Amino acid sequence: NRLTPFVDPLPAPPVLRATHGASLRVVMRESEQRLHRDLPPTRLWTYQGSMPGPTIEARSGETLRIEWSNGLPARHFLPIDHHICGAEPGTPEVRAVVHVHGARVPSADDGYPTDWFVPGQSRRQTFPNRQDAATLWYHDHTMGIERLNLYAGLYGLYLVRDEHELSLALPDGEHELPLVLSDRLLTEDGQLYYPVSGVSDAPWVPEVFGDAMLVNGALLPRLDVRARRYRFRVLNAANGRFFRLSLRGQRPFQQIGSDQGLLAAPVTQTSLFLAPGERADLVMDFGGMGGTDIELMNDALPLMRFSVAPGREEDPSRVPVVLRELPRMVESTASVTRTLTIDEYANCVSEPMLMLLDGKHWHDPVSEKPKLGSTEVWSLVNLTEDTHPIHLHLVRFQILDRRPFDVDQYLSSKTLRYTGPAQPPPPHEAGWKDTAQVYPGMVTRYIIRFEGYTGRYVWHCHLLEHASNEMMRPFEVIA
Ligand code: C2O
Ligand code: CU
Repeated sequence: NRLTPFVDPLPAPPVLRATHGASLRVVMRESEQRLHRDLPPTRLWTYQGSMPGPTIEARSGETLRIEWSNGLPARHFLPIDHHICGAEPGTPEVRAVVHVHGARVPSADDGYPTDWFVPGQSRRQTFPNRQDAATLWYHDHTMGIERLNLYAGLYGLYLVRDEHELSLALPDGEHELPLVLSDRLLTEDGQLYYPVSGVSDAPWVPEVFGDAMLVNGALLPRLDVRARRYRFRVLNAANGRFFRLSLRGQRPFQQIGSDQGLLAAPVTQTSLFLAPGERADLVMDFGGMGGTDIELMNDALPLMRFSVAPGREEDPSRVPVVLRELPRMVESTASVTRTLTIDEYANCVSEPMLMLLDGKHWHDPVSEKPKLGSTEVWSLVNLTEDTHPIHLHLVRFQILDRRPFDVDQYLSSKTLRYTGPAQPPPPHEAGWKDTAQVYPGMVTRYIIRFEGYTGRYVWHCHLLEHASNEMMRPFEVIA
């Protein structure tokens, strides 16, 4: 049964704003939401009753306190794998902890995976927001079950704004909207289905791809726009799906920002490949398109439709040719270079692979201990056949380059033999990042300044099934 496309309006998550020093309270709770007009309501776990949760608006330099309250039921409705690290038998079934992805925060406020709390409890976290304007997001990060908690609906946007960005006259107000992308598998009666391995007591699967594509929690919605520019904050909040976005007919759009805020200059794109965890700040100009419809596509399939009102609208917004000063970090400023592998290991018990960072398990001693204020190069050697979006908490970084190498030779003799030149990142990936695509058969180098705070944080793959099963490691910033 096919669903009628483009009949539901694009939902806009509610906005939560707090004035300087004030606090917000966000309650996690089970709720129901219609993903499409023709589907029955779907059971979800949400922040404040909606998926995505409310968009939290913060100002750069203004401290925000949030009390997260766990009002979820006592039993989980998705399949927990008790073999997985952090979800061992005896741990409470329903646990939650919130991480603001991309936020520069003290480690106690970062939502460490083992800092979870159970229904009836709550946690206060303080966000200093001492960072540039950026499209951040918040989501569950509970050790061993974050993939299930996100799949259930626990994610939302967290926007940091600053004076500089506000001075640019980018499209704003009703002309600035989130487009939060995810995918789900649905049962006949419209309920979430999370796939299982077939091994009854070890249900973990290495990847989840759904055929129901959601934009702001809706299937094939429509947005009525005016014939003018719009700004869209795009987030890939899927567990495992990469989105290849374009406008129908390869109509160009502009990318003005990535994970950690504005690019140096707008980049004209006709398509954009976005990994789980990555964000893109886009401007689409519907100015000459009055009275027409255009779809946002993922490969050959529509995600949603923009219906442009007839005529042409007065448009005072601008996209300046220079967006911000963004110096490229240079390799010579790095005091430490770490070579870290991304590898998979056959697991003797179950067929699916175990993927590890530098061959280490979660419980192995902390091996990455950068000094506060220092700059390091992390050279990520991907020995697998997949792209892994690798994310570090606390910091922003730049991609230095990607370079192909001989994987077989590395596997047999641990020596790196490059097979081609190093490729600098394309312009849309040359800004500040916090999550980047680490390609198979390539060494991807991040250059990272460890600014902000000392303490324990994590780095991990943002394919949530990987992160849930040991593709996550602590690192510690030391004084
Ligand atoms: Cu999106 Cu460790 O997070
Ligand atoms: Cu991965």
